[in-house]
Amino acid sequence: MSELVMVSPSILAADFSNLENEVKKIEKCADYIHLDVMDGHFVPNLSFGYPVASAIKKISKLPIDVHLMVSNPAQHVEGFAKYNPEIIIVHYEVCNNLYRTLQRIKELGSKAFVAINPHTPVIILDDILESLDGVLVMSVNPGFSGQKFIDRALRKVFMLNGMRKARGLDFEIMVDGGVSPSNASKLIELGADILVMGSAVFKSEDPESVCRAVKNYSKI
Ligand code: DX5
Ligand code: ZN
Repeated sequence: MSELVMVSPSILAADFSNLENEVKKIEKCADYIHLDVMDGHFVPNLSFGYPVASAIKKISKLPIDVHLMVSNPAQHVEGFAKYNPEIIIVHYEVCNNLYRTLQRIKELGSKAFVAINPHTPVIILDDILESLDGVLVMSVNPGFSGQKFIDRALRKVFMLNGMRKARGLDFEIMVDGGVSPSNASKLIELGADILVMGSAVFKSEDPESVCRAVKNYSKI
């Protein structure tokens, strides 16, 4: 695990009419680019899929992490693996053969993360923690950028960090939804390793300085 928190700006909040320019704004400070794939079924919104992953790979050298908010995540793992994502994230709530899917993601060369919605307790991951590379704690109900951070997520990060330490594991803890410089230091203090930020970065006047401000909080 890295000593510095990592930042993954979500392009869902970017200006799609000039994606290349938007990505350039965060290129020097971001650790990843977060791709929010939505199917209008698992979540109410539709976003984008393979063509945008392909475009981002052409625009930037930054690693991508693919957040699959779709009802059939296992079906899309191979398709996104073609774009060499550093991380593929599937939702616990819709992944029936979770262990198999995580193994497949790893075979394809990506880190396998499991996301949990705000209503899903962390304890449900008890039997799968040894098999995953990371947990994504959703701090909003997935579907849209610009929503308010749900405070309960803080406790989930704290609990996951405790489980990680108690079992000598090294999975990463990622948080997504309503993250901004105002709650980042608390999240880092509680054990978060990767912070996804959409509107806090792309709706700001100076995306790079927002990234840097968050990255500068040191870990305890
Ligand atoms: C929500 C997405 C998030 C979202 C984050 O469904 O998974 O990644 O884009 O956007 P903000 O940071 O604006 O909440
Ligand atoms: Zn996301």
